[in-house]
Parts: sequence; C-alpha cells; structure tokens
Amino acid sequence: MSGQSTYEPKSAITRWMDKRLPVSRLVWDSFVDYPTPRNLNYWWTFGGILSLCLGVQIITGIILAMHYQVGPGAFASVEHIMRDVNYGWMIRYIHANGASMFFVAVYVHMLRGLYYGSYKAPREVLWLLGCVIYLLMMATAFMGYVLPWGQMSFWGAKVITNLFGALPLVGKPITIWLWGGYAVDYPTLNRFFSLHYLLPFMIAGVVILHIWALHVAGQNNPTGVEPKSKADTVAFTPYATVKDGFAMSLFLIMFALFVFYLPNALGHADNYTEANPLKTPPHIVPEWYFLPFYAILRAIPDKLTGVLAMFGAIACLFALPWLDTSKVKSMRYRPQAKLYFVIFIVACVVLGFCGAHAPDDQVIPGLSAFQLLDSNINSFVWLSRIAALYYFAYFLVITPLLGLRETPLAVPESIAAPALSHPAE
Ligand code: HEM
Repeated sequence: MSGQSTYEPKSAITRWMDKRLPVSRLVWDSFVDYPTPRNLNYWWTFGGILSLCLGVQIITGIILAMHYQVGPGAFASVEHIMRDVNYGWMIRYIHANGASMFFVAVYVHMLRGLYYGSYKAPREVLWLLGCVIYLLMMATAFMGYVLPWGQMSFWGAKVITNLFGALPLVGKPITIWLWGGYAVDYPTLNRFFSLHYLLPFMIAGVVILHIWALHVAGQNNPTGVEPKSKADTVAFTPYATVKDGFAMSLFLIMFALFVFYLPNALGHADNYTEANPLKTPPHIVPEWYFLPFYAILRAIPDKLTGVLAMFGAIACLFALPWLDTSKVKSMRYRPQAKLYFVIFIVACVVLGFCGAHAPDDQVIPGLSAFQLLDSNINSFVWLSRIAALYYFAYFLVITPLLGLRETPLAVPESIAAPALSHPAE
C-alpha cells in the first residue's frame, strides 16, 4: 500500500493481533485512511458496484447449485427452483439478471478507463488484470447460460464450441475435449457446471490482485494528473465510502426493477423450451453483452478469419496501454480523442444491434443503400463490417497516431488547482 501506515491499535486484543496478522491495519490503510483523489466523479463508483455484483452472483449461485441438477434433469430442476423452492424464483431472477447487471457495470467501468486513460503508466498491470477478469467473466457467463439446458443454451453452446473447430490442426481435438464427446451433450453440461462454479472464485482472486495493483499505483482521476500534495487527496472513508454506498443503492434500485418487474426482458423466450438437438431455433442469438463480438464474427465470411477477428477485438484491449502514444491521460483535455471515442461507442452499439439480427434481416426492409451496392450481401452484414472496421481502426490506427499528432488543451498543474478555482466543475 502506498505511504506510511497510520493505523494505531487501540485495545490490547488489536495490539496483540496487529503483531501477528495485521488484518485491521490492512483494512485501515486500504479502505479508511487511504488517500483518494479529491475530484473523483461517479464513474469511479463502478469498481465498488462490480465488487457488489460479484458477491451477489457468488451467493445466489451457491444457493441455486443446492437445487440444480446437472444431467438429464437439468431443465426440470430449474423449473423446480422457480416453482417449488422457497424464494427460488427470486434467487434465480437475481442471478440471471445479475449477470446482465454485472456486464452493464463492467462496460461502464472499462469505458471510464478508456476515457480517462486509466490504463496508461503506471497502471498497465492494473488494466491487464482487468482484461483477464473480463475474459473470465465472459467464460463464466457463457457457461452459466448453458446450464438451464433450454434451446438457446444448447444451440448457443453448439455455435460457440464449434468456433474452436475452425482452428487448424488443434481445432478438432479442442472441440472434442470441450464437449467431452462428439457432440454437445450431458458430459458438456457437466464440465460447464464444474467450471461455472469454479471461475467466479478465480475472478475473486484476480480482483484481489486488481485492487492490490490499484493501491500500489494509486487511483487515476478525471484530470489524469497524479496527486502531488495532501491538498489533492481526501481520506477514502468517509468520502469515497459514502459516495460508493450511494451509487450502489441507485444501482440496486435499477437491478430490483429488472428482477421484480422485467425478469425476462433480457433473456430469450426460446430458453423456456427444453434443449432439442433435432430442432434448430430460427435465430440463435447470444446474450446482449456478447452481441458486438458476435457481429464481428459474422461480419467475415471465412470462419477462421471471423474467429480470429473476434478474439483480436479482445486482444486490442490487452494491447491498449502500448498502443496509446498520447502524453495526456484524460480525454477532458483531448478534444479530438473525445470525438473518436464517441464514435467508438456508437460503433460498439451498432455492432451490438447488428449482432441481434438474423443474417438475412434488412436494416430498412425492402430498401437499403447498402443492398444497392451488392444485392447478394445483406445490409446488417455490411453495417457490421463498417462498425468492425472502425473498432479495429480505433485501437490500431487512431489511438497510436492521434497521440503523436494532436494538440491537447492545457492540463492543470494539480488536482486541487482546478477543483479549488472552479468548484462547480
Ligand atoms: C469483477 C470485475 C471488476 C472489479 C470487482 C473491479 C474492481 C475495481 C475497483 C474496486 C476499482 C477502484 C474503484 C474504481 O476506480 O472504480 C477498480 C479500478 C480500475 N479497474 Fe477494475 N474491476 C473489475 C473489472 C475491470 C475490468 C474488466 C477492467 C478493464 C479491462 C478494469 C480496469 C480498471 C482500471 C484501469 C482501474 C483504475 C481506475 C482509475 O484509477 O482510474 N477493471 N476496479
């Protein structure tokens, strides 16, 4: 942890413990007296919100696992949870919607990092650990969605596991290994259940490293200027704790609205029909948080290139700290970067929109400018190609070049300077 410890044990027991295992000192130095930039805005509350989401998912998941049956009874056991188990419906809806809430929070958290340059030195490792968490979250969510063994669970698993088959040489053995046989079946479900139970604890482990790295480098802040003096920081408690608590309460209200009033809005109706390997659903769509990547995959006709592009889209995130050449962290002082960033968000939304549609849908039914260009190729495919191109250009061309060419606005001397001279900002 940064700085000298200010913890002073007050009782004989805490003094005794402090000499043997200084847990109270760690908590005090990390979450009470920890110097926090005084200008953090509400975008900085999402790390706490994410920790809450992880806790909620683990607790509800453990309860669900007490009643869930892996194997031929899987689908029926989920219905049993919904109808017979006391508050089973609530636990399940919290868990299922909790996954979506988790991804809402993680996307906000990541975009905050992009906007304020939180991935830049000295926070590269913090960012990389975040990327590992994101990968683990995607694997966990994907395997969790298979567990109810509905139509979308089964066909989603089939589409995604088949992607590995596109890899030369190793593709086939990897797919068979993932399946535990020669098709998606109960052995696949069994291993997915095992991994779905394991991965959240691995996420929790990486989160500990993530927060450790955060406390070594210190928090970034909206100016992107590192704290220089005591005037730039405040104590974590009460300032950040109260703010985080307030933001968590608002987040929980939105969460509750989904759980109690729109519990199936983010799911797919087909998943209330038991998996049937002989009946392909008309549209196989993943959960909303995977849609942009799904669109990138489908934008490219060649399967292997599509798979590589999809994984490449995530690899760009890992490489970002070394792709960005700008000396200024925060986009507050980078007007051009701000513009490209907004277009980047639009491109991601467009990709998500395209991913949600079937390949033979048309953007404007019957009339499409793109279709005039090539009547054989569907409009959504074209739209996702343009958005995917921008996605990659943003990371691989715009971010490296802009940092070298732009003229940023004047960056304040310190955090306290603008905060004190413009209290309303
Ligand atoms: C389970 C998921 C995650 C949890 C529990 C978590 C937790 C936290 C916490 C508590 C903070 C400090 C508070 C804040 O800045 O909001 C933080 C900061 C940060 N996180 Fe995460 N995080 C998660 C996922 C991610 C992911 C996926 C990324 C990026 C790919 C990421 C990147 C960062 C960065 C760069 C910071 C430093 C921000 C700054 O100081 O400006 N995190 N995280």
